[in-house]
Formats: sequence, C-alpha cells, structure tokens
Amino acid sequence: AVDILFDCDTGIDDSMAIAYGAGNGAHFVACTTTHGNVPSATAGRNTVTVLDALGLTDVPVHVGAHRPMAQALQTAEWVHGEDGLGDAGVVQSTRPVAGHLGAAEIVRLVHERPGELTLVAVGPLTNLGLALVMDPDLPRLVRNVVIMGGAVNTAGNASHVGEANVWHDPEAAQLVVEAPWDLTVAGLEITMRTALPTSAIARIEASQDPRARLIGRVFQHYLGVYEPIVGARTCVLHDPLAMALALEPDLATYRLARAGVELRGERSRGQVVADLRNFEPDPTDPKEPGVVRLVDTLDVDRFHENFLRAL
Ligand code: BDR
Ligand code: CA
Repeated sequence: AVDILFDCDTGIDDSMAIAYGAGNGAHFVACTTTHGNVPSATAGRNTVTVLDALGLTDVPVHVGAHRPMAQALQTAEWVHGEDGLGDAGVVQSTRPVAGHLGAAEIVRLVHERPGELTLVAVGPLTNLGLALVMDPDLPRLVRNVVIMGGAVNTAGNASHVGEANVWHDPEAAQLVVEAPWDLTVAGLEITMRTALPTSAIARIEASQDPRARLIGRVFQHYLGVYEPIVGARTCVLHDPLAMALALEPDLATYRLARAGVELRGERSRGQVVADLRNFEPDPTDPKEPGVVRLVDTLDVDRFHENFLRAL
C-alpha cells in the first residue's frame, strides 16, 4: 500500500479518484479539502460522505483553504452539481469533519512520517501552497507529490489555456511547481485522453456493486457536461489519473521539463508553460526547483481496467 495524503475539492471525479485509490492499494492517511469545484466546507462534507460510502470510515478529513491566495473565490457547480456530487440525491454522512486547518494538518502529518507520505492533490493548490509557505522543510520530508493540474502547452478548460485547478489559484500552483520536491503533473494534455469507452459506462451503470452504484449515480451529471466536449455520453478521468500515477507510476512514461505558471498574462493567467525544447533537465535530479515530471505515454487500457476493478 502507498500512504497517501489526499487533497481534494470533491467533486465528481475527486470521488472517482477516492474509489480508484480504495480499490488499488491506497492507504489514505488523511484527506484535506480546498475550495474549487465547490466551497471547501462542502468539499469536506462530500469527502467524508464518499469515504464512508466506500467503507473508509476511519480516514480523517480536514477542511482547508476557503479561497485562493490572490484572487476572488470562484466555484464550478455547473460541472459538479450544486451539491458537488452531481445533485444525485446522495445522502450525506453525518460523521464530523475534523476541525484542523487543512494546510497545517499536511505539515503536521508530513513531520510525523518523514519521507513516507505521497501527496496527491486534485483540486486548486492553495493548501499545498500554504503548507510550503508555513514550512520550508516540507519538500525534503515528503516522499513525492502527484497533482492533477494544468493544461501544459495546450487548451485549457477553465479558460482557453487555463486548467481549472491551476486557474483557480495560479500563485499557489507556482509555489508548488517551484518547490524542490519530486512533482508529477498530470494535466489536461494527458487526462483528456482517458475518456472511458461507452461500454465501460454501461457496465458501471448496470452493476449492483455498491461502489459502482455510488459512482454511477454521481457521474450522471458529469456525463452530461462531457457529452458535447468528447462527443459521447462518457467522461474523462482527471483526478483518478493522479491517484493512479501515485500508486502505480509505471502506468506511464515520463519526461522531465522546466515549467512555470503564467501569473500576469493579458489572456493567459493560470496557464502552465513548459519548456519542451530539447534542453532536458538533469534526469538524476527531479527535485530541481521548477522541474516537473510530465506524462509522455500512458497505458490507458490498464488504467481503465484498474478503475473498473475498483468498482
Ligand atoms: C479538474 O478540475 C475539476 O473540475 C476536477 O475535479 C479536476 O480536478 C479538471 O480540470
Ligand atoms: Ca478535483
């Protein structure tokens, strides 16, 4: 099992990532939530609800950042439903959400387990940014970091070049990119290639397994959002891919690149820009500040098989 600290804005595909992890060897040490798809407190309630529905009733959830560092809060209920779980009538868990501040909890847990924890972040990066601001030792003490974020040198979804998780808090994302840690970035350039075959959607919808039934209800709204984008009633697996790469890095091949977040562009604020010319960084030093690991190729079939198995 891989010990995971999961930072999320649950969220439909965040829920799918939790399910993926539960079925593929993730040991959830804790979850922290951020604003993004929905307000942070709503994401906290949703995260507890999904964990409990999957039997992970002892994983603590800590509500974290309520707004971005340097811009106003914006949420994305049009993608995830008013309740963040697709307005499918999912009954919320009454388990209390822990009172600790998300970013502080990340720092505390990483110090408790030096070198052991993998940070998987699938929402705006405010909590990670705050944790880095609070504790310069964090990068040294974290095992590695995997994020779903960015549309590296390609089309965005929240703006023409901005992917939602980066676009919602570009300053935090830049702190995460420039920190001296081992950072894998799964952006839209790769997650948009993970649309489930419609036969897989049908299997999930027909399944009586309680995990499949939960996801099958929650993702209906998402299928409607993605239909005009991908041309079929299916969806891509953004957040599950970050979880998958944390658990099983050899699902993909990678290249290191220097990257940064556009903070001031007239039209491009929130874009992730990587230098993809042939000036490769030192392959023995993935922790060089500003160097990220990008996905080159992905075994999409194996990723989908793992996802279906988890349900
Ligand atoms: C990301 O934004 C959110 O809508 C999803 O949960 C995912 O983390 C995709 O751009
Ligand atoms: Ca998310």
